[in-house]
Amino acid sequence: MQDNKWGSRIIYQIYPRSFKDSNSDGIGDLQGIRNKLDYLKDLGIDAIWLSPIYPSPMHDFGYDISDYKNVDPIFGNLKDFDELIAKAHSINIKILMDFVPNHTSFEHPWFKESRSSKKNPKRDWYIWRGSDKKEKAPNNWLSQFGGSAWELDRTTEEYYLHTFDVSQPDLNWRNLQVVEEMLNTMRFWLERGVDGFRVDVAYILYKDPFFRDEPSNSNYLPEHHMIYDSLLHVYTTALPETIEMLKKFNEVINEFDDRFMVCEIYTFTHEIVNLYKIVDHYSFAPFNFSFISIPWNAFEQKKFLDEFDGLVGDKYFPTYVLGNHDQPRIATRLGDKAARSAALLQLTLRGTPFIYYGEELGMKNVDVPDEKVLDPIALNMKDFNFGRDPERGPMQWDKKEFAGFSDSEPWLPLEKDYTDKNVSSEKNDPKSFLNLYKKLIYLRKNLKALNSGKYIPLDLKNKNVFGFIREYDDQRVLILVNFSGEEQTAKLPKGNWRKILSTQMDTFEGIDKDQIIFMPSEGFILTN
Ligand code: NOJ
Ligand code: CA
Repeated sequence: MQDNKWGSRIIYQIYPRSFKDSNSDGIGDLQGIRNKLDYLKDLGIDAIWLSPIYPSPMHDFGYDISDYKNVDPIFGNLKDFDELIAKAHSINIKILMDFVPNHTSFEHPWFKESRSSKKNPKRDWYIWRGSDKKEKAPNNWLSQFGGSAWELDRTTEEYYLHTFDVSQPDLNWRNLQVVEEMLNTMRFWLERGVDGFRVDVAYILYKDPFFRDEPSNSNYLPEHHMIYDSLLHVYTTALPETIEMLKKFNEVINEFDDRFMVCEIYTFTHEIVNLYKIVDHYSFAPFNFSFISIPWNAFEQKKFLDEFDGLVGDKYFPTYVLGNHDQPRIATRLGDKAARSAALLQLTLRGTPFIYYGEELGMKNVDVPDEKVLDPIALNMKDFNFGRDPERGPMQWDKKEFAGFSDSEPWLPLEKDYTDKNVSSEKNDPKSFLNLYKKLIYLRKNLKALNSGKYIPLDLKNKNVFGFIREYDDQRVLILVNFSGEEQTAKLPKGNWRKILSTQMDTFEGIDKDQIIFMPSEGFILTN
């Protein structure tokens, strides 16, 4: 039985540039977020994760930090931040920050010092290597943003490591001063009242001390995968030292009351489960991206979800993610109807759901014409048709020009359907995405079985339908989803079931004896 606070909190991710602009420069900011807290309260979420708001030259839109202890003027200042926390806390909303420990910006004063000379005291704060042949990188390691992970720096004729953009040099976590400084950065924000962190690329902090070449990946297909996937990252990912450091981060979190950290780790079932066991505390969870990586069909989803919930067990809580600022939006990937059912699953499964801003409106990817592309991945790998701008479009508040996001042209284009899909229109439409989300959140909060009940797998004997039961004392809630685009019928498990919600938000027909009929992609919640 789950008695864990973070295990039942609903977390909402805000990409600050795109949520709400308060000063008409076309870029979202802290004041804008503060002005919209009442909307989030009304939606029913419990915590916000803010993507980075620190000073940054914005080559990777804030994931390239030049000062860990301040706020970028584009978003406001520390006073605005304190006010945001105070107002959020006054209405019982927690705030998580993004913590980006693997790399800084190349404009961070530490890196400026580090690159200035081999003798500089900060030289060892980053990963520098010479090479036998100067024009050849020290080894075969690759950047996730394309090309070699090494950049030759002419000042000292050595290479520095950058697992992401050249503007994002990797910190050297083997240097104890770096460790101390970064742990103190966490404390700086926790003392200011922040409720915890989402830890960026938490699995790659430490790299092989011998800098061995990584082996090639025999499953790599150049048409489908990024060049980074051509190697197996055995010397740069999930080193034992990295996992030890996650434990240290968690100890810092636990110096404070009721704080939490969630780690960005793209990995598989058993490894996720193992991480819970190693870090072993209620204030920690690794992200689970299964709804992004596993095909949208009943068989595959059932196979994963039944096993995963069981392996995570009662002591810990899974997390469920439908999208984020690095992934195409769920309504674009699956279409509206299936995206509604995905929301139903996410909000009825046991564990912590992460809602990416706009998902609650059914927001789609925006079309970004070539001349407006900003994402460094897209710019670095022009031939590879991939960029993250489309999922980062401005939040759709109303149908006015600029969607109520700003009074001037937003930094990224608006989604073309914004005049229909926006907060103001959806509020008044009883069948809208927004009202579906509100209803789901309401049920999750008010049905003990949904917020704390155990998960019971079911076999429904229809390969297109997946379902499970959540149970708490004598309350039982049955969740059913039709994964196909056709009508389906399924036999109900034994019980006296009553429908309480359909993803289509229709008036319900009765249940025909022990059978239930689904419209294409429809999902249901029933109770006893
Ligand atoms: C993962 C973040 O989610 C992504 O947006 C960023 O580009 C990389 N980490 C580098 O920080
Ligand atoms: Ca602004």
